[in-house]
Amino acid sequence: MRLLFALAFFIASSLATQRRYDGYQVYQVKAKDRVSFDVLVKLYNERSDVYDFWTEPRNIDFTTDVMVPPAFKKTFVDLLNAFNMEYHIKIDDVQHEIELSRRDIAPPLAPKKALQRSPGTPRYSLDWTSYSDLPAIYEFVNEIAATYPNLVTVTSTGQSYLGNDMPILKISTGGSGKNAIFAEGGIHAREWISPAFVTWLIRELVENYAAHPQYVDNIDWYIMPVLNPDGYTYTFSPTGDRLWRKNRAPNSGVCVGTDLNRNFDYYWNTGGSTSIECGETYHGGAAFSQVEARNVRDAMLSVANQTKVYFSFHSYGQYWLTPWGYTSALPDDYQDLYDLAQSAVDKLTAVEGTPYTIGTSTNLLGLASGCSDDWAKGGAGIKYSYTVEMRDTGKFGFQLPANQILANNLEVWEGVKVVAEAVMLM
Ligand code: ARG
Ligand code: ZN
Repeated sequence: MRLLFALAFFIASSLATQRRYDGYQVYQVKAKDRVSFDVLVKLYNERSDVYDFWTEPRNIDFTTDVMVPPAFKKTFVDLLNAFNMEYHIKIDDVQHEIELSRRDIAPPLAPKKALQRSPGTPRYSLDWTSYSDLPAIYEFVNEIAATYPNLVTVTSTGQSYLGNDMPILKISTGGSGKNAIFAEGGIHAREWISPAFVTWLIRELVENYAAHPQYVDNIDWYIMPVLNPDGYTYTFSPTGDRLWRKNRAPNSGVCVGTDLNRNFDYYWNTGGSTSIECGETYHGGAAFSQVEARNVRDAMLSVANQTKVYFSFHSYGQYWLTPWGYTSALPDDYQDLYDLAQSAVDKLTAVEGTPYTIGTSTNLLGLASGCSDDWAKGGAGIKYSYTVEMRDTGKFGFQLPANQILANNLEVWEGVKVVAEAVMLM
């Protein structure tokens, strides 16, 4: 009997652990020619249930990062060899990397003592020297709003599938008819630097208002720090998965999750996404099938007429991307989007030399339809729609060390400021 209990306990506790990546490797692969490149694209589009492309197959001149499960190592290497592709193993054991990066996680919130808020001093735990979980981010949002009621209004855009709130902050000095910037982060759960930047952007605009009042005096900011709160929570959970990308709504089969950044209704399901429910880029049963995507859609539509710029913050790769993602054709006003991106990237790179590549998503990363940036431009009519893929270029990938958060944020902020300057004159 006791043995049975012990066994039951053992099984229960081994089920209740985070998904492990023992023996998973990340290959950096370079196609040899058109044919071998097409093999990679085929894997990306049709086998994303097995091969997790950490970066999209870009073109034959660039490498792509692919995470391969140990059971597929031989198949994969045989395939690479058959097509004469160059590769090297860049992460030998993903589990080891995950364990190392645990030191970058902020401790969970301690219950707050019932202190009186001293005027002008928000009490939150974020300090951008480590990655914070959802409760800590929401505490930050609420504290900022409570402390600076003249600058910040928080409202809810709705709940996620699992019932997490999806707040939006309006940062504004009031008045009407101002141009607006809409910025969001965290649509992909594992890209932790994204909410870490967007929260920092909020802090900079609000707590440092006096240092540069023009950015808020002349512009209304609408900011959603975590578009995929269920997925984000799952990447922190001791029973979750650090490398989860999609949301956490169940599908018809065993696999959970839709790629929210393939679920938007602008040329939805026209390439660069998959109908395989287990795939990392599963586009969902229909456009806007996912509540999180609908919440953002509605929030954007309600301010679309004043909004000049849409920012979607992601990692990784160091790209400043413009539409389109569904076609290699350029938007009519591409030159305008490109020129502003170039000015932004010039300032960004000037900080400490971090290079960013500018171009359309399709031309830089390959087709991907149903993305939020295409919808922002094509569906909501927001002219300047950018997806910014922040640090790094793959040395650490999604597990960007926390000691780079601040440097990342400072340089991207320089780019955002350039865009804000332009918005004032639009
Ligand atoms: N890495 C991002 C993703 O896969 C890029 C999205 C860029 N936008 C686009 N329309 N393809 O979601
Ligand atoms: Zn992403």
